[in-house]
Amino acid sequence: MKLSGNTVFITGGTSGIGRGLAEAFHKRGNRVIVAGRRQALLDEIARQNPGIDTVELDIGDAAQIRAVAAQLIERYPALNVVINNAGIMPFDDAGGPLDDEQAVRLVDTNLLGPVRVSAAFVEHLKRQPEACIVNNSSVLAYVPLAATALYSATKAAIHSYTLSQRFVLHNTSVRVLEIAPPWVDTDLVHKSGDPRAMPLDAFIAETMTLLESATTEIVVEAAKPMRDNAGPNEHAFVDQFNQFVADNPIPGA
Ligand SMILES: NC(=O)c1ccc[n+]([C@@H]2O[C@H](COP(=O)([O-])OP(=O)(O)OC[C@H]3O[C@@H](n4cnc5c(N)ncnc54)[C@H](OP(=O)(O)O)[C@@H]3O)[C@@H](O)[C@H]2O)c1
Repeated sequence: MKLSGNTVFITGGTSGIGRGLAEAFHKRGNRVIVAGRRQALLDEIARQNPGIDTVELDIGDAAQIRAVAAQLIERYPALNVVINNAGIMPFDDAGGPLDDEQAVRLVDTNLLGPVRVSAAFVEHLKRQPEACIVNNSSVLAYVPLAATALYSATKAAIHSYTLSQRFVLHNTSVRVLEIAPPWVDTDLVHKSGDPRAMPLDAFIAETMTLLESATTEIVVEAAKPMRDNAGPNEHAFVDQFNQFVADNPIPGA
């Protein structure tokens, strides 16, 4: 995708990867609209990045998504990039009782959220000469972390949905990209400086470089071994990975 001259709407832009991408696009000469629930952070971003616009949005709320999309399409007729980034990563126990409320919130946020946001913008995007939907999945779409089983499953679902979206939109002006990050040091779980996590700045820099020529996926170097795992022989890698994490726990988990 071209990296300047776009009007970019990004969900979950109040922190971490979303904020990093929003600021990177802003610096490269794009109009950027950041969404999130935490108004204080939205205000801080607008203050620190003159020109970035913000909108309060809970992507777990279907009616709010439709209302915000209609409002933004009217205010920004040239809006041509939608980045589905917002997400949560609660821990769970696939071998024990289910926290039903948490499970529903997770699916609403990580799966139905991006699906609803895409649907709310897609007809508008098709009318743009060049448009893009970018879905943020995870390497855990390819190698599930057993301690976040449903999170990993929502990300596998987003990967699958992205493949379908890309196919059905291939004769339109809308390209569909997937970013599959490795572990990046953000507050998603607990920002800790753990050396196994990729520093946010390095992740954003490599991602922006890859975005320029990407036609399908953005997989930074550090994420490649996990992305490449999927296939008939994936089981041993998945077991090894989960045993390693069990033996070397993630801080804050
Ligand atoms: N960090 C990693 O290791 C990693 C790896 C792979 C994939 N990812 C994916 O990257 C994305 C961003 O995560 P991050 O690491 O940057 O974590 P983060 O700093 O916690 O950011 C998550 C963002 O999602 C927003 N969000 C959460 N629930 C929301 C809701 N109901 N409505 C609207 N916004 C909501 C949060 O904003 P508010 O709280 O203000 O609403 C926040 O801006 C997620 O989809 C995550 O799954 C992260």
